[in-house]
Amino acid sequence: MDREILIAPSILSGDFADMGNSVRDLEKWGGDIVHLDVMDGVYVKNITFGMPMVAALRKYTALPFDAHLMITEPENYVEAFCDAGADIVTFHPEASKDPAHTLSLIKAKGKKCGVVFNPDVDIDRYASLFSECDMVVIMTVYAGRGGQKLIPECLDRIRYVKTLLDKSGRDIPVEADGGIGESNARDVVAAGATILVAGSSVYKSSDPTKTIGILKETK
Ligand code: DX5
Ligand code: ZN
Repeated sequence: MDREILIAPSILSGDFADMGNSVRDLEKWGGDIVHLDVMDGVYVKNITFGMPMVAALRKYTALPFDAHLMITEPENYVEAFCDAGADIVTFHPEASKDPAHTLSLIKAKGKKCGVVFNPDVDIDRYASLFSECDMVVIMTVYAGRGGQKLIPECLDRIRYVKTLLDKSGRDIPVEADGGIGESNARDVVAAGATILVAGSSVYKSSDPTKTIGILKETK
C-alpha cells in the first residue's frame, strides 16, 4: 500500500524571534509534521536550540514534533527531548556511543525513534538498527545549515535504504531531509521517501500553502 506523502517543514527557516507564530503558520499552511533541527555546535558547526524551545512550542500546535538531533552523545538528551514534547526523536548513529541503547531510551518514553544518515556515513554499518526504528532519515544535504542544494547522489542512498527495508519486511517510512522543494520532490519520492523535510522552500515561498500542497501531491 502506497504511503501518503507527509510534509515536515523545518522551523530552522522560521522566525527565531517569533517561533510560536512560525509553528502556527506551518500548521495553517498545511504542514503535517513540525521538524525541529537541534544543533549543538559540536556534531555540526552551528547552534540552534534545545529542549526549552521544544517545550515552549508544544502549546502552539498538536502536530507531531519531529526532533532531529544533530548533537554528540544524543543518549544524554533523548529522554529530555521526549519529556519536552517531541513525538519523534532522531539522531545520527555515529554520534552515539551506543545507538541501539539510545533508540531504546526513546522507545521507553513511548515515543517514535529513528536514525539519520549524513551523506558520508556508511548505511550498512548501522542497518541492524532499523529493526528498532520507526523511521529512517536520509540527509540530502550535509547536516548543519538550511538553504543548501540537494545532493543528487543522496537519492541513491534513499533507494538503497528503501531496498534494505523492503527486503527486511520492515514497513517504516524513509524521511528525506535537506534542499527539498518543488523542483526535486518528484525525484525524492520516486527514490522512496514519503516524509519530506522542507525548510527554506516552504518558509521562503511567496505562497507556502501552495508550495506545501504541491509537495504533498508529489507522485
Ligand atoms: C540541516 C537540517 C535540515 C534543513 C532543511 O542540517 O537538518 O532539516 O534545515 O532545510 P532546507 O529545506 O532549507 O534544506
Ligand atoms: Zn533536519
